[in-house]
Amino acid sequence: MKLIIAGDYQEMSRIAANIIAEEIKKKPDLVLGLATGSTPLGTYRELVRMYKEGKLDFSRVITFNLDEYYGLSPDDPRSYHYYMYRNFFDHVNVRPENIHIPDGTAPDVEEESRRYDEEIKKFGGIDLQLLGIGVNGHIGFNEPGDELLTATHLTDLAPDTLTANARFFGSIDEVPRKAITVGLGTIMQAKKILLLASGPEKAAIMAELLDDDAVSTRVPASFLLLHRDVTVIMDKDAAEIYKNRAKKIDAAIQPASDF
Ligand code: GLP
Repeated sequence: MKLIIAGDYQEMSRIAANIIAEEIKKKPDLVLGLATGSTPLGTYRELVRMYKEGKLDFSRVITFNLDEYYGLSPDDPRSYHYYMYRNFFDHVNVRPENIHIPDGTAPDVEEESRRYDEEIKKFGGIDLQLLGIGVNGHIGFNEPGDELLTATHLTDLAPDTLTANARFFGSIDEVPRKAITVGLGTIMQAKKILLLASGPEKAAIMAELLDDDAVSTRVPASFLLLHRDVTVIMDKDAAEIYKNRAKKIDAAIQPASDF
């Protein structure tokens, strides 16, 4: 696992966008796994800027989003469909037919989940997966529990997630109780993973994740410790507790200036 501690949110976003851009330049038909939430917004802004400056071409890039709220239609401003178009797809040249997001309104969720996994397989799996992390260690909407599912599935959102995401809905009662998410299998089979964490509210989970050397279904992101090619980029606030505790900090951290 490569660790980069960026000075601030802006630097984290710039480094993440540079890594994504490099991968697209190496492989113009990159299969790119995308995340939502507040954390990747700056990364999307940077990618849009690179595209507008003529430095990046998304015309052959294939995208797969991690998740969608169950019951929200694509034109609902609180849906992840809406978020993705508004913050990214509307401003770059990803072809509409190359965009994939689970359909939260599919009448048969099991069928939709199977279809989504088939599509990912058809493109040979995810080349680069962008991830955020929940305060409870979830990735996508794979919530802590006794077991984690490998394939795309309908899931109940954890109470911590409902609380954290209430800010996008006005009140906690408005947050959908369920979501469709890709499973841990899809994430772990990605060839390369980029995990972003920003802000003091992520400091505790990042310290737990990075300093424990243990894998547990109670912290879904801990499975990333088993992956061969994960880069974690945190801003200073998210790294705060880890930095104070870390045993092997000097060996693990790559200087942000290298990126
Ligand atoms: C959301 C998403 C995740 C995201 C996480 C953190 O609920 N399902 O993909 O990484 O929670 O969100 P944020 O970046 O807003 O803290």
